[in-house]
Amino acid sequence: LCQTSSATSTVNGTELKDFLHISDFDKATILKILDRAAEVKALLKSGDRTFLPFKGKTMAMIFAKPSMRTRVSFETGFFLLGGHAIYLGPDDIQMGKREETRDVARVLSRYNDVIMARVFAHQDILDLAKYSTVPVINGLTDFNHPCQIMADALTIIEHIGQLEGTKVVYVGDGNNIVHSWLLMASVIPFHFVCACPKGFEPDAKTVEMARQAGISKIEITNDPKEAVRGADVVYSDVWASMGQKEEAAQRRKLFEGFQVDEDLMKLAGPNAYFMHCLPAERGVEVTDGVIEAPNSIVFPQAENRMHAQNAIMLHVLGL
Ligand code: CP
Repeated sequence: LCQTSSATSTVNGTELKDFLHISDFDKATILKILDRAAEVKALLKSGDRTFLPFKGKTMAMIFAKPSMRTRVSFETGFFLLGGHAIYLGPDDIQMGKREETRDVARVLSRYNDVIMARVFAHQDILDLAKYSTVPVINGLTDFNHPCQIMADALTIIEHIGQLEGTKVVYVGDGNNIVHSWLLMASVIPFHFVCACPKGFEPDAKTVEMARQAGISKIEITNDPKEAVRGADVVYSDVWASMGQKEEAAQRRKLFEGFQVDEDLMKLAGPNAYFMHCLPAERGVEVTDGVIEAPNSIVFPQAENRMHAQNAIMLHVLGL
């Protein structure tokens, strides 16, 4: 893993960058995109519908995997800013199976101004970006989920003032969300802790890359109680319902002690926020009490998917 090579596209002689990994960008660019997200969010919240930078533009959205938030937030955001998004599900496209990824990339580039894709294998998004002549945005792969982490960063900035210097403690599976946090930690300095069961640690190369960047404190532990002390944010992600029934039952056993409940939040302190990228399995990964508490910011976080992505689309389109 840790394949963070970036790809570029050229439109009208201007080099435009795909949005595949947070670590492809420097701190100034990430903060600029987040500022833009806040600016466009304020405009949309005010009811102003005159900012239409995507007018006359189309976006192809490839979904090899199911989604609620990613699909609706991209489609709504692109529409609100004047564009038209086209949903392509597994019945429309089977990249690498019914049609080669390089052909899909080149054909969609002929119709669309931007491509967003949610795929299984990370190599698929790299191939898509390599052969596409328009910008490609990563809507989740088995390696990372950069749009989610941009929305998370925006939410933290709104509630705490900044991401820099905060302590973010992730409790759960060391999966693509953790990899995205690690890539963010190689660009913005903060304290990131991943507390996961033994055997569910994040990709070692990605942990090493984030540590090598030398700007953030990175800890990987198997002790959630110790991890959450002093946290500004306690974050969890779906780990309960992965795979088949038997696998899910086995997972629940392995993840015993990793549920975010009221006792764990008490250890984090009275000002700690609870975040979850959703969907959440209530009563398993997180208690109802924690997700419904006043310091749970999961719904502003979900809303910010749209605002962060609007700014990402503006950035890759050079608008
Ligand atoms: N968090 C997230 O990506 O949600 P969806 O799977 O619903 O898109």
